[in-house]
Amino acid sequence: MNVRNMQAQDIVNVLAIEQSANQFPWDKKSFEDSLKTGHEAWVFYEQADDIIGFAIVQRVLDEAHLLNICVKPTAQGRGLGKAIVQHVIDYANSISAVIILLEVRRSNERAQQLYLNIGFNEMSVRKSYYPAKEGREDAILMAMDLDLISFFKE
Ligand SMILES: CC(C)(COP(=O)(O)OP(=O)(O)OC[C@H]1O[C@@H](n2cnc3c(N)ncnc32)[C@H](O)[C@@H]1OP(=O)(O)O)[C@@H](O)C(=O)NCCC(=O)NCCS
Repeated sequence: MNVRNMQAQDIVNVLAIEQSANQFPWDKKSFEDSLKTGHEAWVFYEQADDIIGFAIVQRVLDEAHLLNICVKPTAQGRGLGKAIVQHVIDYANSISAVIILLEVRRSNERAQQLYLNIGFNEMSVRKSYYPAKEGREDAILMAMDLDLISFFKE
């Protein structure tokens, strides 16, 4: 799998993946604003012009916030999600971030399992954080403490 920085012209394809994989997808403006703000954004592809996933990270001082990650539904379950999260971890290490933070819907057990398997921990719950089909849904706040990991590696 190859990776490159997301460009404005990728948004049309990225949005199509986002909409096909999420019940409550980001809209076009959210991606545009993210790029304008200077968030780290990557697209992953096997063949040029065939984006199969993406990730967006906001750097806040020595923290990396994983804002969005998605794999095209037809490419899911092949280890690409895990590879993308690993890319995010490598990036966070490269900027000497001490922690990676993310929020995930309580019902999104697949993503939670992926994060747990790779070394994230559940930190807390943000009650009624997301809109849901009926009412609202909690977010699980998860974190990977890179400082602690590097301490044990030394
Ligand atoms: C979450 C997501 C990124 C995972 O991508 P993926 O390419 O399918 O994931 P992988 O194939 O790398 O699988 C990683 C782990 O997910 C879990 N997983 C994969 N397929 C699963 C399934 N059908 N059921 C339950 N868990 C599953 C497993 O724990 C797997 O680890 P393992 O291979 O060591 O058992 C992808 O499902 C997705 O884009 N979902 C929609 C958007 C989303 O939910 N993003 C996360 C928001 S916080």
